[in-house]
Amino acid sequence: MRGPLLLGALASLASCTALPSPRNSDGTHAQVIILGGGIAGISLARSLITEHNITDILLVEARDELGGRAHTETLYSNATGQSVTVEKGCNWIQGPGKEPILELAKKWGLKTAPQNYSDVSWFQGLGIEADGARGHFLDDAEQEEFMAGYDNFLENAPGYSTWRQNNSLVDLSVRVATSIMDWIPVNPLQLAYEYWNIDYTFAQPPEISSFENAFAQEAGIAEEQDDFVVDQRGYKYLFVQEARELFGQELDDPRLRLSTTVKTIDWSAAESGGDIVVHTDCGSFSAPHVVSTFSVGVLQHQDVHFTPRLPDWKKEAIFTFGMATYQKIFLLFDEMFWGDEQYVVYADPDQRGRYAVWQNINAPGFFPQNTTNNIIMVTATDTFARRNEELSDDEIQGEAFAVLQEMYGADIPQPADILVPRWTLDPLYRGSYSNWPLGALDQHHANLGQPLGGGSSWLHFTGEAMSADSFGYVQGAWDEGINTAGVIAECLSGKCPAAEAFEALTTCAQTGTALARRGPATRRGHGRRARGVRR
Ligand SMILES: Cc1cc2nc3c(=O)[nH]c(=O)nc-3n(C[C@H](O)[C@H](O)[C@H](O)COP(=O)(O)OP(=O)(O)OC[C@H]3O[C@@H](n4cnc5c(N)ncnc54)[C@H](O)[C@@H]3O)c2cc1C
Ligand SMILES: *[C@@H]1O[C@H](CO)[C@@H](O)[C@H](O)[C@H]1NC(C)=O
Ligand SMILES: *[C@@H]1O[C@H](CO)[C@@H](O)[C@H](O)[C@H]1NC(C)=O
Ligand SMILES: *[C@@H]1O[C@H](CO)[C@@H](O)[C@H](O)[C@H]1NC(C)=O
Ligand SMILES: *[C@@H]1O[C@H](CO)[C@@H](O)[C@H](O)[C@H]1NC(C)=O
Ligand SMILES: *[C@@H]1O[C@H](CO)[C@@H](O)[C@H](O)[C@H]1NC(C)=O
Repeated sequence: MRGPLLLGALASLASCTALPSPRNSDGTHAQVIILGGGIAGISLARSLITEHNITDILLVEARDELGGRAHTETLYSNATGQSVTVEKGCNWIQGPGKEPILELAKKWGLKTAPQNYSDVSWFQGLGIEADGARGHFLDDAEQEEFMAGYDNFLENAPGYSTWRQNNSLVDLSVRVATSIMDWIPVNPLQLAYEYWNIDYTFAQPPEISSFENAFAQEAGIAEEQDDFVVDQRGYKYLFVQEARELFGQELDDPRLRLSTTVKTIDWSAAESGGDIVVHTDCGSFSAPHVVSTFSVGVLQHQDVHFTPRLPDWKKEAIFTFGMATYQKIFLLFDEMFWGDEQYVVYADPDQRGRYAVWQNINAPGFFPQNTTNNIIMVTATDTFARRNEELSDDEIQGEAFAVLQEMYGADIPQPADILVPRWTLDPLYRGSYSNWPLGALDQHHANLGQPLGGGSSWLHFTGEAMSADSFGYVQGAWDEGINTAGVIAECLSGKCPAAEAFEALTTCAQTGTALARRGPATRRGHGRRARGVRR
């Protein structure tokens, strides 16, 4: 269906490009091997080379292009022959500590549009049983009725969080916190409003997300402007351009190993100072410093094997943290039959979050209007999204189209194309981004990023999820790449940090420390956490 993608599909078949290495006889040994060419991998390579003059590196990536979860796809209309590029993964510059990404966007002239979450229409739907009957769009008075209670909660949440921290009270789920503060959603509109405010950000329901570590920190920056990337070169352009500065315009530097899938990481010799060996479908590579940038989902799913197996404290950390599913379904139409507002929220009477959040990609200032490329995007999360991943594109199109017909009338045109991402089925990602669930302690999170090894040989873990301040975001990945480069540079200059994991988390660990993190007030500013010495 996606005609223009054929080239990409063919290219990905080409594998194991046997490139000569300028640095050693066979190109299989380096000082640092980076596993994964997403944002963290690129940021790490950039920092090693340009900030620390560490150039003897290899970067191994399974796909035939860089960017990882910064990933574009093409929608194509057979009738008009027109195509348009959309973001299958990250799309907004948003969240705590986004300043470095705003700087990159400025540097590379990335085109964005300001997202206005007040520019929204609300539709009270009849759901799956509608059978041709239609619900209705709400007027202003109807809207305020169901929003007030949640808005009160949101306003008070940061203060309540700080108060709980001040008093060393344990973490709560977002659901318990909303309930204590008297937000008890019952009707479909309240549930849709809550879904839009909570699940649409964390991609997990309030019963799972941590109040202190996920929700309260976001609430503190709720008023900031989010920028939606509308650049046809894609969000990934920022990171691919940074990589071109390192590896050449054509990205043909032999230190870059695309189309190479890691199978096993053998770190058995690391504790005694021996090299770590990475086995791939294109041969084996070794280095004293190997860095995994794989998602928590990949680590949880054990798509990559570790020899010896990871210690229990590491596994406890990996399986305690959350990997969410956030699915952006794009529908392309040859004509625009919807309004100019940026959002429409559909309140399903039976199922919270069923085709709830619709976004108009052709709102004024976004994609061009009055063309034959008109896109509406609907987002699904968590169990509903994972259920969708198992269905065919045609089945999803049928369901989504029925909701559009209920909102806009039976005679709207059929979509010209549809994109249904399947992040959780993809063995390279196993989900969309990480989330901090209730029950994960600070020490769990520290253990997640804790390197393994000894002396001068270390297996590092970095990427989006390792950021305590900006997990789940682009800047989390970018910052962690820089932090890990700093740790490696120190070690290579003879000051390897002493490793000290929290090997046994006892019930005492929950007292105080789990809530000793920065509150919303401090997180508001520049988010890069001085990680200091890795234990
Ligand atoms: C649908 C979606 C929406 C999002 N929306 C936003 C947003 O709006 N704003 C925002 O800030 N963030 C958003 N994010 C999160 C953001 O995209 C990520 O935090 C960030 O891209 C993660 O970068 P990373 O380098 O840590 O990980 P990754 O991008 O996952 O990099 C890891 C790399 O490793 C590769 N790899 C995996 N397994 C292997 C293997 N066995 N061998 C070799 N290579 C392998 C992968 O192909 C990948 O390139 C979104 C993510 C998704 C999926
Ligand atoms: C970088 O390192 C190389 C040796 O690896 C050295 O010759 C060079 O002078 C260094 N450059 C800088 C700017 O430190
Ligand atoms: C697209 O058009 C071509 C002919 O122009 C036709 O063969 C093909 O089946 C069409 N594809 C779809 C998905 O409609
Ligand atoms: C956002 O949208 C609302 C509702 O349409 C409008 O009143 C407001 O002026 C908009 N804000 C900005 C900054 O454009
Ligand atoms: C929390 O403690 C700080 C420092 O003692 C104090 O300034 C602040 O008012 C307290 N906040 C709440 C909500 O208790
Ligand atoms: C799109 O076309 C309509 C009707 O022809 C016109 O009123 C409107 O101003 C156009 N919008 C843009 C952004 O060009």
